[in-house]
Amino acid sequence: MSRLYSEEAELYDIAFDWDLSDEAAWLVERLGPECRSVLEPGCGSGRMLAALDAHGLEVVGIDTSEAMLRLARARGCEGVRADMTDFDLGRRFDGAVSVVSTTGVLGIAGLGPHLEAMARHLESGARYLVQQGVFADDAELWRSEWEAERGDTKLHIVWEALDQQRSRSRVAILGGPRTGEVVEEVHVAAYWTVKAWRDVIAASPFTQVACYDEEVEVELDQGGDLLWHELVSSRD
Ligand SMILES: C[S@@+](CC[C@H](N)C(=O)[O-])C[C@H]1O[C@@H](n2cnc3c(N)ncnc32)[C@H](O)[C@@H]1O
Repeated sequence: MSRLYSEEAELYDIAFDWDLSDEAAWLVERLGPECRSVLEPGCGSGRMLAALDAHGLEVVGIDTSEAMLRLARARGCEGVRADMTDFDLGRRFDGAVSVVSTTGVLGIAGLGPHLEAMARHLESGARYLVQQGVFADDAELWRSEWEAERGDTKLHIVWEALDQQRSRSRVAILGGPRTGEVVEEVHVAAYWTVKAWRDVIAASPFTQVACYDEEVEVELDQGGDLLWHELVSSRD
C-alpha cells in the first residue's frame, strides 16, 4: 500500500483538505431526494463522508487503510476496513460516491470486480457518482500541482500520471516540525481512455446516464481529468 495512504495518512489528509461543501451539496442533488444512505468506497480520511453527513445522510466508508479509517472515525464517520473489489457489508445503500479518481487505484483490471461488488450493495435504480479522469487517446498525461497548510505544516504537492498504469506523488514539507522532508512515491493508477472506461461500464451492472465537468453536463464521450460519471445500478 502507498505510504501516503498508510503511515503518512495525516499528510494525505492535509494535502487533500479543501472545502468540499459545494461539491457535496451538488452530489446530494444528483443522488436524489429518496437517498438516505450513502456508501463511499476508498473513503480515505473521510473528508467527503463528513461533508455528506452534514446534509443529514447516513454515510458509511470502506477503505483498506486502518490509518485512513482512524482519521475518518475521528471526523465522526463510520469506517469499515474492506477491499472495494470484494466486500460484503450485508446491506444495501440508496446511493454511492467515489471521489478524486479513487477508482484509478484499482488499476484497469480492478474496476469490473469493484462495480460488481458495488451493485450488490446498492438498491436497484440507485445512483453511483464516480469522479474519475478519462482521456482522449491523444491527450497529454495529466499533472496537478498545489499547496496546502494546516497549523505550522505547509506542503507543496505534485501529482502526475507517469504512464497508463502509474502515477507519482511528491509531497515536499515546507513548514512545521518536518520541514525539508519529501515524501515521494509511485502509485498504481489506471489512466483511463474514454473508450476503455465506457467498455468496462457497458459490461458492468451499471449504465452511465450522464457525465459532468465541474457540475456542467457534458457528452458521455468527453475526456477530462476530474469528470463525474453518473452511473445507475440496473441489478435487482
Ligand atoms: C486517492 S485516495 C482517496 C481517498 C478519498 N476518497 C478522498 O477523497 O480523499 C484512495 C483511497 O483508496 C484506498 N484504497 C486503495 N485500494 C483500496 C481497495 N482495494 N479497497 C478499499 N480502499 C482502497 C486508499 O487507502 C486511499 O484511502
